[in-house]
Amino acid sequence: MTSSTLVTGIPELTTNDPEQGAGQRDPGDRLLGIVRDAALVVRGGIVAWVGPAAHAPAADARVDLGGRAVLPGFVDSHTHLVFAGDRSAEFAARMAGVPYDGAGIGSTVAATRAAPDEVLRALVRRRIAELRAQGTTTVEIKSGYGLTLEDELRCLRIAREVTPHTTFLGAHVVPPEYAADREGYVELVTGPMLDAVAGTGGRRLAAYIDVFCEPGSRHAFDGEEARAVLEAGRRVGLGLRVHGNQLGSGPGVQLACELGAASVDHCTHLDDSDVEALAAARGTTVATLLPGVEFSTRSPYPDARRLLDAGADVALASDCNPGTCYTSSMPFVIALAVRELGMTPAEAVHAATAAAARSLGLDRRVAVGCPAELAVLDAPSHLHLAYRPGVPIARALELSAA
Ligand code: NIG
Ligand code: FE
Repeated sequence: MTSSTLVTGIPELTTNDPEQGAGQRDPGDRLLGIVRDAALVVRGGIVAWVGPAAHAPAADARVDLGGRAVLPGFVDSHTHLVFAGDRSAEFAARMAGVPYDGAGIGSTVAATRAAPDEVLRALVRRRIAELRAQGTTTVEIKSGYGLTLEDELRCLRIAREVTPHTTFLGAHVVPPEYAADREGYVELVTGPMLDAVAGTGGRRLAAYIDVFCEPGSRHAFDGEEARAVLEAGRRVGLGLRVHGNQLGSGPGVQLACELGAASVDHCTHLDDSDVEALAAARGTTVATLLPGVEFSTRSPYPDARRLLDAGADVALASDCNPGTCYTSSMPFVIALAVRELGMTPAEAVHAATAAAARSLGLDRRVAVGCPAELAVLDAPSHLHLAYRPGVPIARALELSAA
């Protein structure tokens, strides 16, 4: 029989389990389903028991975390990890006042197309190690820097070696060779590229389709183009995700809500009707905020408080990419959300775990029967994630090596 491990020395365990939260007086404890002086038993990678350490059952092995808080591993539900090249000079120019408009994506496309598979694979693996070292245990990865049929498939195949949560973003920008034929490019994305990605006659390479809907940017797609892309993806059974309302107000959020997208991401520039649409789409469409982008582009932050108060589902993710935000750190994102977006530390942790998971169709509780995808903090509570910005206190909990 598979051996079991009892984990103790946990002053605070975040379970995201409403049953553990029920009856707690503190709203943060209630939201996070916190158990104090907790223990858990893991067997075969699955949680077999959770509760107060005083009631813990016996197990084959024991790991004492020595006063470290445990929480569900972070779910980074929006990344662009498959890329080559360097755009640090673009970042430096932005800090000196140059605005972001998506033009730099072209240089990453050129570098990614030129990179051999082994080079891209090594870059992705290094980035995965980097984010695990900061507590992320589940990651979504988009294509979008290939933009030819072959290169999009190549990027998705490499992404799929490290995660099942892959998203086809052929509609990231119109590549230079189609600059005079936008319509032709949308036809390529919604026709041959999508057929190949969806596995018509082969293996499915993506679970979702995404589109950069930003009518104000000549590089991205307007509402009509975005609708065509999303409806085509839906016809072949892909889930929907949208880059919307990042650079200015626009139709992205409304379109995502209307089509029942799993997530609409950025949500930086929202008017009242966008907030109402997201509140009405609660349970279906998650508003995923990416405050590392506003940090790295010197832009105004989205207003999480307004969304939460209206009743919308709010997730947090990194958007790790070479252009608008080259960080893989969910603790940094949580710190920004607390400092700049009006979220409480508990809301930010919930958004970076349970809500982000829901946008990928996953359950991120620490409860009997759930996968033991856990993070551990060199700190007694989740408050330290925002309280100690920039300090590497979080990591994925590797039970065999703990
Ligand atoms: O999510 N906005 C569109 N795509 C990325 C940035 C891509 C890039 O600049 O390389 C984003 O911010
Ligand atoms: Fe993105």
